[in-house]
Amino acid sequence: MNWKRLFSSKPGAQLTPELRARIQTSFDEAARDEEHFPSTIDPRIYHVKLIHHHLGNLAGRRVLDVGCGKGRFARVFQEQEPLAELWGLDISEEMLRYVPAGIHTRAGAMTELPFEDAFFDGAYATESLEHAVEIEKAVSEICRVVKPGGRIAIIDKNAEHWGRLDTPAWEKWFTRKQLERLLRRDCREVSSQFVSYWEDVEPDGLFLAWLAVK
Ligand SMILES: C[S@@+](CC[C@H](N)C(=O)[O-])C[C@H]1O[C@@H](n2cnc3c(N)ncnc32)[C@H](O)[C@@H]1O
Repeated sequence: MNWKRLFSSKPGAQLTPELRARIQTSFDEAARDEEHFPSTIDPRIYHVKLIHHHLGNLAGRRVLDVGCGKGRFARVFQEQEPLAELWGLDISEEMLRYVPAGIHTRAGAMTELPFEDAFFDGAYATESLEHAVEIEKAVSEICRVVKPGGRIAIIDKNAEHWGRLDTPAWEKWFTRKQLERLLRRDCREVSSQFVSYWEDVEPDGLFLAWLAVK
């Protein structure tokens, strides 16, 4: 498969101002739906544990949650790592209202991160890159704002399971190889693995975690 074509030449693969406004409005409205867009997550969920394990000890480190939503992952890390400097970025200001005090927030698109190069020690994105539309640009931006040697974790859905869930028109899922290849442009170590919510449940292939060291 030509992964480059898949990401860059699909019709509608540009985050035009109109599409950006549509996505933003959709998530602003979704913020009211606490059942499907919760502001908390059980810290025992493997997605949380895996990201924390990959990022390592966060004391004194600056970490970005990309497409943080209500900041449910950052909320756990704030509790577990009170000395970490946590930041959350999201396109939806309504989502950001739920992010707990003490976590820095920025409204913006992950394809144009409002941070200087190498500002963060690490970054992670959970079920958000799939909404970025311009996937290559978003991955490149995430890598840009992380320091050399910094760690990146991305959890999203597997393109091989496309169709299993209802998705908005702009959403894209990736295969292991597609995202590995994008991350390898800027990162020296890249791996991926299937993940399920609970460590003792065999992954069913829907969720993938990509782990990288810049
Ligand atoms: C399914 S939610 C996941 C939120 C959070 N990562 C979590 O796991 O709870 C997807 C989030 O991505 C945000 N988002 C969508 N497109 C974005 C973009 N281009 N830049 C930044 N955030 C974006 C949405 O506003 C939404 O909060």
